[in-house]
Amino acid sequence: MIILGIETSCDETAVALYHAKKGLLGHKIYSQITLHAKYGGVVPELASRDHIKHLTPLLVDLLEEIKLSLKDISAIAYTQNPGLVGALLVGATFAKSLAFALNIPTIGLNHMEGHLLAPFLEPIKPEFPFLALLVSGGHTQIVKVRRFSEYELLGETLDDAAGEAFDKTAKLLGLAYPGGPILAKLAEQGNAKKYNFPRPMLDRPGLDFSFSGLKTHVLNVAKQQHLDEQTKADIAAAFEDAVVDTLIKKLLRAIEQTGFTEIVVAGGVSANKTLRKRLDSLATQQKVKIYYPKLEFCTDNAAMIAYAGCEHFKRGKCDNNWQINVWARG
Ligand code: KG4
Ligand code: ZN
Repeated sequence: MIILGIETSCDETAVALYHAKKGLLGHKIYSQITLHAKYGGVVPELASRDHIKHLTPLLVDLLEEIKLSLKDISAIAYTQNPGLVGALLVGATFAKSLAFALNIPTIGLNHMEGHLLAPFLEPIKPEFPFLALLVSGGHTQIVKVRRFSEYELLGETLDDAAGEAFDKTAKLLGLAYPGGPILAKLAEQGNAKKYNFPRPMLDRPGLDFSFSGLKTHVLNVAKQQHLDEQTKADIAAAFEDAVVDTLIKKLLRAIEQTGFTEIVVAGGVSANKTLRKRLDSLATQQKVKIYYPKLEFCTDNAAMIAYAGCEHFKRGKCDNNWQINVWARG
């Protein structure tokens, strides 16, 4: 059984083929970074048009590379939600049309379920039950996962997501798009102790996050400084430290609350080196195991969508008989 995965929720066009027994057969990602860079952020209409342009060539390349043909595909999984509406529509239309032509089913998926399951693409896999810290450009969530497809939302951001805060802070420091990884790189040259930025919502109970106040705080500090390269690096390091500290402390709270010892950390911000370093020491201190996707599967990709689709399809689920997973709050 081979599942084609399609990801078009934001600014990456991606396709992947996952074999139920052999695992990932191959995948391709086309990043739209250069298209959006001159606007300083993703332009939704341009993103949709670019997905249309690249989906077919990417799939043709992938099939050629792994020497398979369309008739080898058993079902097509695609990101149904959340994401940019036009961009999602391109992926869904492509998936549905191709599936209609091939007379095979489609499986619409929650993009965040794809991120959550991405560590299962690695050789050492998490064991159920586990806690997932999902940190992407659009979401920051702590999810309790009892077993496959049984998710309970324990906490989420009330405003900006962690990745969004990275991107917006990068922009106000005058850094290029995409801001998150560029700010993280700059932070390596900075001294995080030069500024003491707030750790939002740590003084309140619960597992929710809020990052928009931190971003405004950074803006106010930045306005009062002469922004030379070293000052920018110090601000970047102190900002990164505040975000990472907040994520770690809330995750620790969730570990204490649930007693779970298997932890998944995924989504674009899980590529962040400082976060990974702090998570690794948390793992040693708390005697928990932390699983990440490999770097190329932290950010958006279709391998995670093909894998998630395969797991649902194995259980007989497809668009004809199933509604996509939406995390419910406990
Ligand atoms: O998961 P993802 O590719 O897309 C969404 O589903 O949103 O995450 C993208 C986010 C962006 O906000 C990007 O700036 C952030 O992940 N990101 C990082 C790093 N790499 C990507 N943030 C901090 N440090 C990084 N190394
Ligand atoms: Zn994503």
